[in-house]
Amino acid sequence: MDIQSRIIGCGSYLPGDPVYNHMLEEKIDTTDEWIKTRTGISQRHYAANNEFTSDMALVASQRAIEHAGINGKDIDLIVVGTTTPDRTFPATAVRLQKSLGCKTGAAFDVQAVCSGFIYALSIVNSMIKTGQCKKALVVGADTLSRLLNWEDRTTCVLFGDGAGAVVLEACRVDPRESKSGIISTHIHSDGKYEELLYCDGGPSTNQTAGFIKMEGKEVFKHAVNNLASVVKEILIENKLEPEEVDWLVPHQANKRIIESTAKKLKMPMSKVILTVDMHANTSAASIPLALDYGIKNEKIKSGDLILMEAMGGGLTWGASLVRM
Ligand code: UT7
Repeated sequence: MDIQSRIIGCGSYLPGDPVYNHMLEEKIDTTDEWIKTRTGISQRHYAANNEFTSDMALVASQRAIEHAGINGKDIDLIVVGTTTPDRTFPATAVRLQKSLGCKTGAAFDVQAVCSGFIYALSIVNSMIKTGQCKKALVVGADTLSRLLNWEDRTTCVLFGDGAGAVVLEACRVDPRESKSGIISTHIHSDGKYEELLYCDGGPSTNQTAGFIKMEGKEVFKHAVNNLASVVKEILIENKLEPEEVDWLVPHQANKRIIESTAKKLKMPMSKVILTVDMHANTSAASIPLALDYGIKNEKIKSGDLILMEAMGGGLTWGASLVRM
């Protein structure tokens, strides 16, 4: 028998009330029309001053655990994809472990910016398959509002805060059976493009958290190309045609990037989970937020084949194919 990992629960969390585009018009030189037409974003949520990444991760995780119908104490691995840890150390995952009351196994963070959830899923999937854990929590959580420069209108309107989580469980399967659970994960990075999207602070550089800096147009082009290539790679590796995918669950950064990937897959937008309008770019949280929305709104059903993909600072990018 082979060991495979399956998603058995999903949960998400958005903090506070929505902050609509027109509310930003009062603060900076922008318009609702510009934000909507260039990005598809209508609103975002910001964490309260005393609400941290681990607090949002906790609510999303509790919801995922409840959805999975398991005892949270049985979780023996917690991996959090985040760029905005509560503290430089310890890992946000360790703080989450304490809040959940989990005492066994390990907890650590993964830093791959907007690809953080795909990276975390890829690592946990490998650990489950090699028998290192049985029930794992994979979380994407970010408070990017803390890294926004309100003097830079080209970036500050694009991001929001949130968290999403899935529970993965190890299952023994007959290798002759058709593939289910996490079928394949592919991750990539190319450090030479660091300057296109980065944060200008850090403990070892200037001891600050810093602000987001982005060459939007260039990142856009790389996103379109890298996402198309990783999606093609994952389909070819698994001998699948695009039509066999039931749902595309993309990183929610820009509606135009998502439409471009869907077009390359010849996939109608009716098969794409689109939530960027509701929460803007929440970095590592955006895929599990979209996945949870798709599941709880009865779009994604048991047995559906879903394709998740993301690209972010690094540059990092990746994709994952899952039979729900
Ligand atoms: O999650 C990580 C991956 N990140 C992304 O995928 C983001 C990728 N990039 C993008 O989504 C887009 O490039 C943006 C949404 C950031 C920008 O869209 P764009 O179509 O590339 O616009 P642009 O940067 O070329 O700017 C067009 C115009 C400029 O004015 P001029 O020079 O043409 O007069 C900007 O100054 O829009 C102006 N502009 C704004 N206007 C109103 C830029 N930001 C704003 C704003 N409100 N907030």
